[in-house]
Amino acid sequence: MIAVFRRLADVDVRGRRVLVRVDFNVPLDGVGNVSDDERIRASIPTIRALLDGGASKVILMSHLGRPDGRVVEGLRMARVAERLERLIGIKVVKLDECVGRAVSSAISSSSEKVFLLENLRFYPEEERNDKDFAGQLASLADIYVNDAFGASHRAHASVAAVASFLPSCAGLLLEKELDALSSLLNPERPFVAVLGGAKVSDKVGVIGNLCSRADKVLVGGAMAFTFLKSMGGSIGKSKVENDKLDMARSLSSPKIVLPSDFVVASGPESSDVSVAPAMSIPESMMGLDIGPESVACFVSELKAARTIVWNGPLGMFEKELFAKGTLEVGRAIAISRATTVVGGGDTLAAIEKFGLAGFSHVSTGGGAMLEFLEGKKLPAVEALERAAINQ
Ligand code: 3PG
Repeated sequence: MIAVFRRLADVDVRGRRVLVRVDFNVPLDGVGNVSDDERIRASIPTIRALLDGGASKVILMSHLGRPDGRVVEGLRMARVAERLERLIGIKVVKLDECVGRAVSSAISSSSEKVFLLENLRFYPEEERNDKDFAGQLASLADIYVNDAFGASHRAHASVAAVASFLPSCAGLLLEKELDALSSLLNPERPFVAVLGGAKVSDKVGVIGNLCSRADKVLVGGAMAFTFLKSMGGSIGKSKVENDKLDMARSLSSPKIVLPSDFVVASGPESSDVSVAPAMSIPESMMGLDIGPESVACFVSELKAARTIVWNGPLGMFEKELFAKGTLEVGRAIAISRATTVVGGGDTLAAIEKFGLAGFSHVSTGGGAMLEFLEGKKLPAVEALERAAINQ
């Protein structure tokens, strides 16, 4: 349950320096260019609101990749700053460090308004949630805004400790994400969850929590094979987590709907495609997408739903031959009049590939969304809640 935290609308930023944690952890291509700028775009409303609200300086900070507390040249924020500058049409001053005198004097002496600090994870103190480091970040500004939903499940200095140093609030993106995901805690029913992806072990907490909240949990993707094998099914060469069969058995619930058939082939690169019953896939074949009967069953459950959450593709959608399950189920969710919340890196890639639109909310968070769906408290949100009480 989300308690009370301050929102941007509650804070007067006029003439103030504002430190903003964003999640600009974007994919880079082979030559270091930003290959998907969705997360940068998603924080622009907050940046604009701060500038329109009269903030004297907007100091942005983010991590990029996992450099493990060391400077990694390929993970500098320069390309991200360039992309942001192009998107907002305002000069963005990229700084080469996150804290220290050089940073504060560069900000003070510049006539520009928007700054982007260097990759926070170049500092080991960031992931240690180090108070001194958080204090140094906070010393750059008068107000702290967290807009980094994607990083809100990390107890790191720039999302957690920093909020105890400054008047703090959620940015517009964080607010939107938390409002959308919180609507799943008190959903209009029927509430149907669609979960895909490769591993039961990645989703065990989510499946458990959703089985207690949702009316149906539709399971596709390779993780379905672990469930089917745990029930005595013959799954051929399909991907399976053999060490998680007990885990799958322990999750069993009448709310879980497994595929009844699969599109199978002798391998992901093969074109000897056929359809097999889920519990008896031939020895030489592997399931690579949910089959037509399963698609019809999932789509009919979705038609009745008033609230839907979707995380994870249902098959190997990157390949034409195995894309239909994800496409048809995704399309049913996209055209549904239910409240629809979707997220997860692979799910967003599928949505993009198929040009699906019309969801109530598309989350920018991968791990953060999953942890929310597991029912966990997000450290960044807890920090804002504490700040609201103490400041
Ligand atoms: C993400 O991409 O999910 C967030 O930016 C968090 O990144 P992390 O998993 O490296 O903490």
